[in-house]
Amino acid sequence: MKTISFISQKGGTGKTTLSVHMATIAHSLGYKVFLVDLDPQKSSFDWSRCRTTPGPVTRSFKPGALFHAQSEARKLGFDVMIVDTPAASIELSLDAARVSDLIVLVSRPTIIDFRALKELAGLVRAMPISSALVLNQAPPQRLGREMNMVSENINLLFDLGIHLAPVAIRTRQVYQGAFGTGQSAPEIQKNSPAASEIARLWTYLESRLSLNQQGERGMARPGRSAMPAKDASAA
Ligand SMILES: Nc1ncnc2c1ncn2[C@@H]1O[C@H](COP(=O)(O)OP(=O)(O)OP(=O)(O)O)[C@@H](O)[C@H]1O
Ligand SMILES: [Mg+2]
Repeated sequence: MKTISFISQKGGTGKTTLSVHMATIAHSLGYKVFLVDLDPQKSSFDWSRCRTTPGPVTRSFKPGALFHAQSEARKLGFDVMIVDTPAASIELSLDAARVSDLIVLVSRPTIIDFRALKELAGLVRAMPISSALVLNQAPPQRLGREMNMVSENINLLFDLGIHLAPVAIRTRQVYQGAFGTGQSAPEIQKNSPAASEIARLWTYLESRLSLNQQGERGMARPGRSAMPAKDASAA
């Protein structure tokens, strides 16, 4: 079983949005997914309770129970565990990071967010664990190019030394609507730019975890590919 944690020191960056979307797409591709909500606000757990169709198994845990949750998930044969963390505590972010195979830092592409990322990024970089930075709530591209403000800010990221994911998640209303219905954006809007970017982000995380070659249990890769035929991110 592989574990991915979504962390950020700053609140509201999109940890929960990315956790539920990555969990849902992985589930739809045939992985057995355990979504762990460590946030006392229980946003992921509440999302799952609104859901009316099968999806990732979602449970809320107290932070101290994370290690136990992970060993139970292993015993139960889950392929992927996704951990949604609260922003408030850097220690808790690091606890989740320590049990992960891939640590995903989540940030909006603004100067204030990047500055707030520095301390946590430094601590993550010092860990012997793979990590990535995913930009969320990025403004839509214009003619396939980032807006100047975003590309200028992205330059600030090189100092952080964390690998920038090649897929950014754009600001779209459908991500907000998803929480009302317990769905994911691709389920609400099939073949949409949101569906495309979510699929491409999962493909990237999947490759960072080597899940698409062979899982720990010798699991063959689930049949369908998350890679969309056409890149619609600029739409
Ligand atoms: N890509 C996006 N487009 C539009 N709205 C978004 C996007 N990502 C997140 N949001 C909205 O921003 C708000 C914060 O997102 P979310 O709850 O996922 O962040 P978080 O990092 O989990 O917050 P917290 O630190 O409070 O746990 C929510 O209202 C969510 O619907
Ligand atoms: Mg959250």
